[in-house]
Amino acid sequence: MDVRVLPDYEAMSDAAAEIVAQKLRAQPDAVFLIPTGTTPLGMYRRLVELQEREGLSFSNATFFNLDEYLGLASDHPASYHVYMKTNFYDLVNADPAKVHVPEGAAPDPEAECQRYEAAMREAGGVDLCVLGIGRNGHIGFNEPGAPFDSRTRVVRLAESTRLVNAADFEEKCAPERAITVGMQTIFECRQALLLASGSNKARAVKAATEGTVTEEVPASILSQHPDVTFLLDRDAALLLDETDV
Ligand code: PGA
Repeated sequence: MDVRVLPDYEAMSDAAAEIVAQKLRAQPDAVFLIPTGTTPLGMYRRLVELQEREGLSFSNATFFNLDEYLGLASDHPASYHVYMKTNFYDLVNADPAKVHVPEGAAPDPEAECQRYEAAMREAGGVDLCVLGIGRNGHIGFNEPGAPFDSRTRVVRLAESTRLVNAADFEEKCAPERAITVGMQTIFECRQALLLASGSNKARAVKAATEGTVTEEVPASILSQHPDVTFLLDRDAALLLDETDV
């Protein structure tokens, strides 16, 4: 486990984009599993800049998103489909045929989960997974208690998550359920990168990196991963016993 502490959000975002870019340069057809949320916005902005400035190309890569709200049409403004198009996919030369987001409004959500899991498998598995972390330690929408052997499935969101995410919805109320890529699927990614910024993530980061490995702290599974980097800004690292800053 590599824990890197950067001075601030901008530096964390730069470092994250550079890791993604390195993967793309070394392996243009790499498979990525990537997050939504406020944390990765800086990383996406920098990746767009890297395409503009140095011609970094996304066209041969495959992208999967970690999650989507259940029941939201892909054109709902608070959907992760729209988030991804607005903040990343429509701004780079990603191939729409190689971009995947779970269909929140699929008529048969269970079948959609199976299809999504199979698509990741058929793509050869994930080379690099980029994750945010919830204040409760969730990764994707795997909330505390998510089984470590879980795959892509329908989950119920923690009330605390719904409160944090309510602001994204006009009616100030987030859906109760979502589709998320599972814990086992995340753990099987060949390389993992977790981003955390801000003091409201400090407890979750400490529990994930220095605490017991437990399903009550989903991100704690990553401490067992053979190739994981935690990229933190100073505030997210505030409670760690030892840092390299
Ligand atoms: P955030 O969400 O980046 O908006 O803080 C992260 C998460 O909940 O996984």
